[in-house]
Amino acid sequence: MAIVLAIETSCDETAAAIVNNCHVCSSVVSSQISLHRQYGGVVPEMASREHVAIVNAAISQAMQSAHLNWSEIDGIAVTSAPGLVGALLVGLSAAKTLAVLHHKPFLGVHHLEGHIYASYLTDPTLQPPFLCLLVSGGHTSLIFVKNCGDYETLGQTRDDAAGEAFDKVARLLDLGYPGGPAIDLLAAQGNPQRFPLPEGQISLPGGVYHPYDTSFSGLKTAVLRLVQKLEQTGQVPLPVADLAASFQAAVVRALTRRAIACALDYGLGTIVVGGGVAANRGLRQQLQQAAALHNLHVLFPPMQFCTDNAAMIACAAADHLNRGHCSPLTLGVQSRLAIADVMQLYQPD
Ligand code: KG4
Ligand code: ZN
Repeated sequence: MAIVLAIETSCDETAAAIVNNCHVCSSVVSSQISLHRQYGGVVPEMASREHVAIVNAAISQAMQSAHLNWSEIDGIAVTSAPGLVGALLVGLSAAKTLAVLHHKPFLGVHHLEGHIYASYLTDPTLQPPFLCLLVSGGHTSLIFVKNCGDYETLGQTRDDAAGEAFDKVARLLDLGYPGGPAIDLLAAQGNPQRFPLPEGQISLPGGVYHPYDTSFSGLKTAVLRLVQKLEQTGQVPLPVADLAASFQAAVVRALTRRAIACALDYGLGTIVVGGGVAANRGLRQQLQQAAALHNLHVLFPPMQFCTDNAAMIACAAADHLNRGHCSPLTLGVQSRLAIADVMQLYQPD
C-alpha cells in the first residue's frame, strides 16, 4: 500500500493530488483555460509561467485537504513525459525538491499511463490485460495493457487527435476553447443524422482499411466545406446543434468501431477509456451500447478525472512504487515518449 503525492503540469492544468493506491485523498486542479481562451489554444510560455505561479499553492492545498503530514507520504511523483517541455520542467523541479527535502522515493510518470490509471479510480479491482481507448487533446490510441509498465500500441491517429478535432471544429463553429465540452453540450440538442459526415479511414494496399488507425483531418475538412456551403446558400445562422451532433456522431462511430474490433480480435473482454474525450456523453453512451452487444465490459474514469489531473498520475505511480520502481533524480523531461518505453523512466542512476 502506498500513499503518493503527485504533480501534473504537462499542459494547461496545474494539478496536485494525494492517493492511497486507488483511493483519492485529495485532488487539486487549477485550470488555465481562461488564460489561453483568448488565443484559441495553449500558449506554451504562458502555461509555464502560470505553473510557476501556482504549483506551490496547489501542493499545499493537496496536503492540507488530505490531512496528512510528510512522514505519511511514501513517494513523490510527477508527469515527466510527454508534454510541453517548459511546463513539465516546473512540476519536475517541484517534485525533485520535495523528494530530496523529505527523503522520499521519486517517480517520473508517463502522462498517458496516468490516463490509463484514471479508470482504476472508478474500479480499483481492475486487472490487466485489457484494451485502453486513449482519447485526449494530443493522442488517439488503442493500447494493449498487458501489465503495469507493459504496453503495446495497436492503433493510433494518422493526423489529428480526437480532442484536437473537437477543438478545431468548435473553433470553426465559433464555440470557443476548449471545444469538446461545448460540442458535447450542443450535440445533445441536435440531430446527428442531419449531415452525413465521413468517419475517416486509412486505406491499406489491397483495397482494405486499417482496422484500428483513425484519421480525423478529412472529417474536419468535410465540416469546413459543409459550413461554407451552408453559408453560401444563406442558411445562417448556422444549424450549429445539428452540425455539432453530426460531427460528434462521426467521431464516436470511428472510435467505437475500432475499439470493439480491436478488443474482439485480441480476445480482450474489457475496454478502458481514458483522456479528456472520455468525458464525452455521446461516446460514453454509444460505446457502452455497442460493447454490451458483444458481451464486452467498458470502464470510464469518474468525470472529473477524464481531463488532466494529478490523481491519475499518483495512482499510476503508486502501482510502480508497490513494485519497487522508482526514478533516478537525474531524470529529465521529454516532450515525446512512446508508451511502450515507459519503463525507461524507472532505470536506476
Ligand atoms: O486529457 P486532456 O485533458 O489533455 C490532454 O492530455 O490532451 O484532454 C483535453 C481534450 C481537449 O481537446 C478537449 O476538447 C477534450 O479533451 N474534451 C472533450 C470533452 N471534454 C474535454 N471532448 C469531447 N467531449 C467532452 N465532453
Ligand atoms: Zn491528458
